[in-house]
Amino acid sequence: MQYKVIIPAAGSGSRMGAGFNKLFLKIKNSPIIELTIKIFGEDQRCNEIILPIKEAEKHLFETLNLPNSIKQKITYVQGGSERQESVYNGLLSIKDAADYVLVHDGARPFVSKDVIERILERLNDHQAVICAVPMKDTIKKVIDDQVVETIDRSTLWGVQTPQAFTYECLVQAHQKAIQNGFLGTDDASLVEWNGQVVSVVNGDYNNIKVTTKEDLFFAETIYEQYRD
Ligand code: CTP
Ligand code: MG
Repeated sequence: MQYKVIIPAAGSGSRMGAGFNKLFLKIKNSPIIELTIKIFGEDQRCNEIILPIKEAEKHLFETLNLPNSIKQKITYVQGGSERQESVYNGLLSIKDAADYVLVHDGARPFVSKDVIERILERLNDHQAVICAVPMKDTIKKVIDDQVVETIDRSTLWGVQTPQAFTYECLVQAHQKAIQNGFLGTDDASLVEWNGQVVSVVNGDYNNIKVTTKEDLFFAETIYEQYRD
């Protein structure tokens, strides 16, 4: 199964507070985004890596230490002010009718081959597939420092990326969201909102999104394990 991957990379990393795009922070000498790109670059089934970026940061992406075989797969597009817009710009850049599109956060450098395998397998008979892990914490709804509700944990999953779609399914969902001014925090929510089924496979607790400073410590530890 051939696929294209959109890796949104145009964020500012405000919660990280580094003062620059967190994707250029290094984990054991490699920028986060370099690790993420390599995972897909090394997968023979991935024939294009679409990177929504900020134009002003293009030179930083171009100097990443990647082999030519991977650089050749990269298409840069203009990022948007929201992640959703960045992904949509990526979708618009797809000229030849791609069958399958994966969307993966630039900030998740530890997605395993196993997770990608499970997703592609499920994509054989589904239009939309996400990966997720069961929540470990008890989740409560809190408003103004007060508990409003404790939500039954047995049904709660923490959703990760990659999220995979048939091209048609994802384009339609994005277009409907734009028409209605709907803004989602992931791509699957747009597909759900468009009334279509989203299938779930097991993700991996190591597939963290590097978001805040604490995550950098976890990332170093996961990296050690991941490289073995
Ligand atoms: N992203 C993007 N375009 C945006 C916002 C985010 O391409 N307008 C990308 C980020 O670069 C990241 C991914 O979407 O790879 C997930 O977003 P997140 O982890 O929230 O990163 P940031 O938006 O950069 O961080 P923050 O929300 O803390 O500012
Ligand atoms: Mg963000």
